[in-house]
Amino acid sequence: MMVREFRPSDLEQVFGLARASFDEEYRPDAFLYFHGQWPQGQLVMVTPDGGLGGFIFGIRTTDGQARIMLVALRAELRGGGLGTMLIKDFESRAQASGCARIALELRHSKRRLMHFYQRLGFITVGMLQSYYSDGEDGLLMEKPLQWNI
Ligand SMILES: CC(C)(COP(=O)(O)OP(=O)(O)OC[C@H]1O[C@@H](n2cnc3c(N)ncnc32)[C@H](O)[C@@H]1OP(=O)(O)O)[C@@H](O)C(=O)NCCC(=O)NCCS
Repeated sequence: MMVREFRPSDLEQVFGLARASFDEEYRPDAFLYFHGQWPQGQLVMVTPDGGLGGFIFGIRTTDGQARIMLVALRAELRGGGLGTMLIKDFESRAQASGCARIALELRHSKRRLMHFYQRLGFITVGMLQSYYSDGEDGLLMEKPLQWNI
């Protein structure tokens, strides 16, 4: 598996995987917007046959924070460590872009996902009341990035 920066020509496959992976609807131009803001924070995982295996989309805020917005792997590739690999790759690139920490939000009910992020070194730093459109609370998780000086 190879990880590289997203290209606009990946959009159709990325959009297809997003539709298959999430309940929420995303517009294709949202992915292009993220790409325009911070190309180094939009990564795709490419399978040996050249297909799309997964993606991660993030933003970078002015206060030195990277934020994971969306991450997904093709269903048949989940559970084998590739999601961990993709997030670690994102971390290195965020660090190289000068980010001091990574943050993300997730639904309060997504306990399995919360444990996945905990294993990756994220800690819950806040509760976001009625954060989602259906009224569900959110959890805010963060991970500081280490500097090797
Ligand atoms: C979340 C996701 C990217 C993790 O990638 P992965 O390669 O499956 O993860 P890894 O193999 O590195 O790690 C396995 C852990 O991922 C988590 N995980 C795996 N599949 C999952 C799923 N369908 N839903 C939630 N968490 C999942 C679990 O914590 C699992 O550990 P466990 O089996 O001990 O519970 C991937 O499962 C996925 O695409 N899920 C659907 C989309 C999604 O929920 N994205 C996150 C919100 S934006």
